[in-house]
Amino acid sequence: MAETKAKTTLIFVPLPVLSHLLASIKLANLLTDRDDRLSITILILNLQLDSKISSRIKNSQNSRVHFVQLERDESDKSPKSTLVQIVSSQKSAVKSAAAAAAAGSNLSGFIFDILCSSMMDVAAELGAPSYIFFTCGAAGLGLLFRISDLIRRRDRALKDYLDSDAEVPAPTFVNPVPAKVWPAMAFANEAGFLDLTDRLRSVSGIVVNTFLELEAHAIAALAGDAAAPAVYPVGPLLHDEEESADDAARLRRAEILGWLDEQPESSVAFLCFGTNGYFDEAQVTEIATALERSGTRFLWSLRKPPSKETGAAISEYENPGKVLPGGFLDRTAGTGRVIGWAPQMAVLSHRAVGGFMTHCGWNSILESVSCGVPMAVWPMFAEQQMNAFQLVHELEIAVEIKMDYRRDAPKLVAADRIEKGIRELMDVDNKIHANVKELKEKSKNALMENESSSNFVRSFIENVTNL
Ligand SMILES: *[C@@H]1O[C@H](CO)[C@@H](O)[C@H](O)[C@H]1NC(C)=O
Ligand SMILES: *[C@@H]1O[C@H](CO)[C@@H](O)[C@H](O)[C@H]1NC(C)=O
Ligand SMILES: *[C@@H]1O[C@H](CO)[C@@H](O)[C@H](O)[C@H]1NC(C)=O
Repeated sequence: MAETKAKTTLIFVPLPVLSHLLASIKLANLLTDRDDRLSITILILNLQLDSKISSRIKNSQNSRVHFVQLERDESDKSPKSTLVQIVSSQKSAVKSAAAAAAAGSNLSGFIFDILCSSMMDVAAELGAPSYIFFTCGAAGLGLLFRISDLIRRRDRALKDYLDSDAEVPAPTFVNPVPAKVWPAMAFANEAGFLDLTDRLRSVSGIVVNTFLELEAHAIAALAGDAAAPAVYPVGPLLHDEEESADDAARLRRAEILGWLDEQPESSVAFLCFGTNGYFDEAQVTEIATALERSGTRFLWSLRKPPSKETGAAISEYENPGKVLPGGFLDRTAGTGRVIGWAPQMAVLSHRAVGGFMTHCGWNSILESVSCGVPMAVWPMFAEQQMNAFQLVHELEIAVEIKMDYRRDAPKLVAADRIEKGIRELMDVDNKIHANVKELKEKSKNALMENESSSNFVRSFIENVTNL
């Protein structure tokens, strides 16, 4: 039967960093599982951003999801100082790889990461529609459109908003959104931001890693916006944890989970700020003081800052005791652990974990929601501040540590404030606990047959295959 069916190829162009790639692989598997006419080729741009990518590609086992690693075009002399320029310089490689991948089938569309949207020109040249895979939330997507409208209106310079206490209503949020939590990308380069949001508005659809029950208000607002493309919430798409090849990492993982096994239910606060989240020593001291005073059990993933002198990247401490207050590790030996890397999903799904202090990356949020763990928000970069606002004020599944913290302009957060946040987070009578448990159940159902995300997957496939 298979050979009589029309064959359809989709081309994915994700940003080649691990978290984006993993989400794309998940989406590709979801789509091909649903419809056996579909083949998907994931093009890996040659940006040399992430070394772990090759092993993930090798381990992917789906006969209808293929990977093509692009070569860099050495003859190309166009400027390549920004990510957008580097991505653009690979247009011709993307064009020929896509044409080759689709040979013998119908090329039904391209799915781009938002930062690869300059590639939409290639899709147009090949006569195929462009879609975007948006790896943050629907409320945040709507805020990008709202801010681009404000820039166009030009009644006030965007930078003046950033330094003000202005709060601006946005259709995808119930509450007015403080300018202090708007995404940094809007302020960094207004022209580039407008170009990007214009491209976003012009695509045939935006696939969003979220689910209807999590962001019902935002999704309804986008559906009602005639100037916004169709939005397909198909999540939550969570990363599979890779079985580590490295004995030391396996041992550390077992040790962490073994320690959690000995702790009472919902008693442990888990602190983890993402791969690029770190603090200076003064801030580390405030966090340690807060943890000790709160008396709560804790598991703290502590990263070592990059070094200006040696140029060393963010890494792990060999001896975290050196940056912690004197005697801290001894005094908290019975109640807490300071670790480096953390197997985040395994920790969040452990029954002993009762709260998650997080940098509010969207993947971390989805993991925490799926595990029913309430959060304390301490954002670092990018769109994390607006995610933090959404968690605290819109979804009411988090407490605030500091919503407008920015890693590139850090202001010391005092121990008192952190301690208060930890106590509120771990208070099982706080409504955030009940709220997130409810969402956990809904997140489990979303991708089941005839449920919200599952139905959006079907309508997305109908749209791309033109049925
Ligand atoms: C491409 O699509 C057309 C129309 O749906 C179909 O008739 C044709 O068989 C398809 N081609 C392949 C190679 O599947
Ligand atoms: C799908 O869900 C809708 C609404 O919940 C229901 O009316 C319909 O009968 C369901 N269809 C199937 C095939 O289960
Ligand atoms: C797919 O969506 C686009 C944009 O919303 C729409 O114009 C088009 O008609 C849809 N195609 C199908 C086959 O549903």
